Amino acid sequence: MIALKDISYVRLGTRDLDGACRYANDILGLREGQRYGPPRHGRAVGFRSDAREQTLVYFDGDPADHTTGFELSSMAELQSAAAELERLGHAVREGRPDECEQRRVQAFIGFSDPSGNAIELAVAPFHSGVRFFPTRDTGNTGFSHVGLRSTDPARDERFWTTVLSAKVSDRIGAAPLLRIDEVHHKIALFPSAYAGVQHINHQVASIDDLMRAWYLLQSRGIRVVFGPGKHPTSGAMFLYFEGPDGMVYEFSSGVRMVTDPDAPPRQFPFHPTSFCMWGSVPDIPEFR
Ligand SMILES: [Fe+2]
Repeated sequence: MIALKDISYVRLGTRDLDGACRYANDILGLREGQRYGPPRHGRAVGFRSDAREQTLVYFDGDPADHTTGFELSSMAELQSAAAELERLGHAVREGRPDECEQRRVQAFIGFSDPSGNAIELAVAPFHSGVRFFPTRDTGNTGFSHVGLRSTDPARDERFWTTVLSAKVSDRIGAAPLLRIDEVHHKIALFPSAYAGVQHINHQVASIDDLMRAWYLLQSRGIRVVFGPGKHPTSGAMFLYFEGPDGMVYEFSSGVRMVTDPDAPPRQFPFHPTSFCMWGSVPDIPEFR
């Protein structure tokens, strides 16, 4: 079993690096950590959302190229994870020194989950010596989870819960909400015809931050695709909105902690009321 310590980062390709960076800065309120590549034509830009040096990276590349990184506790665990994944038939590649430098980690390996989602396991993501503060008053308290597309959620749930250390907190239809620590979920698997990151969540401090964001997004012409609402599963209040290249971003507040390690998963029907207990109807294909 490969023990995931935390979710670390998402890396997204884009054909409009400047536009994506403007969005991350102005709309998400994330702060640029570092640019990589030639100074005037930076090929990748890392953004901070918490104490770490970066949790979101936009790079000049294919907008369908998405990678999610998770932290492991030690180099020994990374080595045994690589051996275990190879034993199970997953092609594993070791991150080169320049790639580790870009990711701001000591070491990492890359592989694909059974749907083809690019996953990286990293050791020692660098923390910044400088406190994070957002570029506007978003109330952002940090990167928290991803929704991943799954071509077979039952198969992928088995992978994430038997090879990796995720546990099912709840299911909505076939879509499992998976935890790797006490936070209700840090990964969710949504049925889809193809792999990729389906949404990216940051936590905000309170409902006030969600409502401020809601009005700000409308004033900036950003399409809100779901919410404001409240998830009956995690108890989090939420707002989902559209980002560059059709990526969906989520701000949420008040996610439940699951303190009983043996808490049994609850089954919710695949219906809008399972996604929002206030009555908001999602304009997100994977939620309908
Ligand atoms: Fe979410």
